[in-house]
Amino acid sequence: MRIGVYPGTFDPITRGHSDIVMRSLRVFDRLIVAIAPNPRKEPLLPLADRVELAKIVTKDMPNVEVESFDGLLVNYVRRRGAQGLIRGIRAVSDFEHEFQMALLNRKLDEQLETVFLMPSEEYSYLTSSIVKELAMLKGPLEEFVHPEVADRLRHRYRDLHR
Ligand code: COA
Repeated sequence: MRIGVYPGTFDPITRGHSDIVMRSLRVFDRLIVAIAPNPRKEPLLPLADRVELAKIVTKDMPNVEVESFDGLLVNYVRRRGAQGLIRGIRAVSDFEHEFQMALLNRKLDEQLETVFLMPSEEYSYLTSSIVKELAMLKGPLEEFVHPEVADRLRHRYRDLHR
């Protein structure tokens, strides 16, 4: 069985991310969505919320598991017995950063391959930051994220501005 890990901050998970999850299942038998605390990015949503939302979004997708992880990604991948990492490439601008990460991860673990997948064109401009900005400015969200994610973001901004 081939197991893939799709790592990220997922602050929050978007329709672009779920598109990549579905595409990954064509390549791997099982997929683990691995959510990093990533305090460096100062996430808006607590880690537990990011995990819960990713579970909600993927609940009808067979063979998908969601989990948080701490520390080095390569160690987590090894612990989980996975063979590959999945990353989404949306535009040429993603490439340099992704290339660097993939090479570093391979340096840390020679056995680990990174598989790059392209999301559907309709999500090629989408980022979690754009979604958060829309939520902050009370813009429409449902086209970009699952309704439960949209609700959670609206509540979060409401709480922050109270
Ligand atoms: N659809 C929509 N958005 C997408 C996307 C897609 N298909 N693919 C990527 N993105 C967006 C993300 O939403 C995010 O947007 P944001 O910057 O507005 O938040 C951005 O692209 C990429 O962010 P993220 O997915 O969080 O990745 P990252 O580049 O911050 O890396 C980890 C996150 C978890 C993979 C990395 O920090 C890590 O490996 N941490 C563990 C520690 C470690 O091992 N470090 C060494 C690794 S080299």
